[in-house]
Amino acid sequence: MLGARGEACEGKPYNARLMSAKRALDILKTITVGDKDIVSAGYLGSLSVEGDRAEVVLLLPSSLKEQAEAIKTAVEKRLTEAGFKADVRYRVRERKPSLKVNVGPVGKKRIPGVKKVLAVASGKGGVGKSTVAVNLAVALAKLGLKVGLFDADVYGPSVSVLMGLEGERVFVTPDRRFKPIEKYGVHVITFGVLVKEDTPILWRGAMLHKAYEELLMQTAWEDLDILVMDLPPGTGDSHLSLAQGYTVDGAVVVTTPQMVAVADVLRAVKGFEKLEIPVLGIVENMAYFPCPENGKRYYIFGRGGADRLSEMTGYPVLARVPIDEYVSSSGDAGVPVVHAYPDVPSSRALMDLAGHVRQDLLSGL
Ligand SMILES: Nc1ncnc2c1ncn2[C@@H]1O[C@H](COP(=O)(O)OP(=O)(O)OP(=O)(O)O)[C@@H](O)[C@H]1O
Ligand SMILES: [Mg+2]
Repeated sequence: MLGARGEACEGKPYNARLMSAKRALDILKTITVGDKDIVSAGYLGSLSVEGDRAEVVLLLPSSLKEQAEAIKTAVEKRLTEAGFKADVRYRVRERKPSLKVNVGPVGKKRIPGVKKVLAVASGKGGVGKSTVAVNLAVALAKLGLKVGLFDADVYGPSVSVLMGLEGERVFVTPDRRFKPIEKYGVHVITFGVLVKEDTPILWRGAMLHKAYEELLMQTAWEDLDILVMDLPPGTGDSHLSLAQGYTVDGAVVVTTPQMVAVADVLRAVKGFEKLEIPVLGIVENMAYFPCPENGKRYYIFGRGGADRLSEMTGYPVLARVPIDEYVSSSGDAGVPVVHAYPDVPSSRALMDLAGHVRQDLLSGL
């Protein structure tokens, strides 16, 4: 994906989506409030561009409350003149302290044998949720915790590949419960090893709920400190089933630095808030590419996505994981990078993340 080691690191990949996002961004930079344009003044909360549709969220300080409507109208006008179908919204900024909650909401089921449940999620597909979830689980085990990993992505379970579980089988205990597979110090249950690869999965609503119920509640989790759940992309059925039925003690949301990713991820953050699941913070994956030749950082997907999300939501950035070939090649080989190459920058960032999670979720244990 990244080219062979030793290749020159110059040159940035662009695609059409990023190009039109850049064009929209350039237009926003022409709109000024006082002596600054709205982008450099930090008023752009997020920009999501899909074809000719541009969705803008402005984040304005309370001093601009009176001018907010006028600014919104100016942005709409300028984007429309440039041929975009513009959807512009604004919020007046208020900063919230980061959440530190150790007790799950009442009235939901606790998964037997599990002290804390952590969801790894993102509104956006392909940002590296599964990679982060798997490495976070292995990293937490390296910190000495008893860790489980549950692949909640029924439609595209990838934990079995990332953990090298292909060909493994799940056994049933004498009291008819599933026995997690143990690998790299982590106890794993994934739909990936229960369902044949060519079986189409069309579970919806009630069936999905039942599938979770069986796998989560009827697994013989043995006195886990923490169960890490890899959620599918989006905010659909799976999230609702999990969040409504079981106590989830915390969530980390994964984003990339691209502004197009931020709006989707913001939706996921809001979803967790609505479901009363405490958000521990944000993980910026593929934050930069460290040149293997000289260590220089290349921000190939742009900069600042996680910071912007943090500013908009008040949740802290817990880790910035670089994009590197160690992560992708070890993932493909079924050996998580924190296990295969513990000293590379991506592994160190993921170990730091594990430290934050332990601190926020498990310090009272
Ligand atoms: N930091 C990174 N450096 C290099 N490659 C990465 C990094 N993070 C993820 N990848 C690669 O990106 C691809 C997508 O990652 P992953 O499957 O973890 O994403 P996802 O968000 O779980 O996707 P989905 O939405 O399909 O569940 C994988 O091939 C993975 O190896
Ligand atoms: Mg995934």
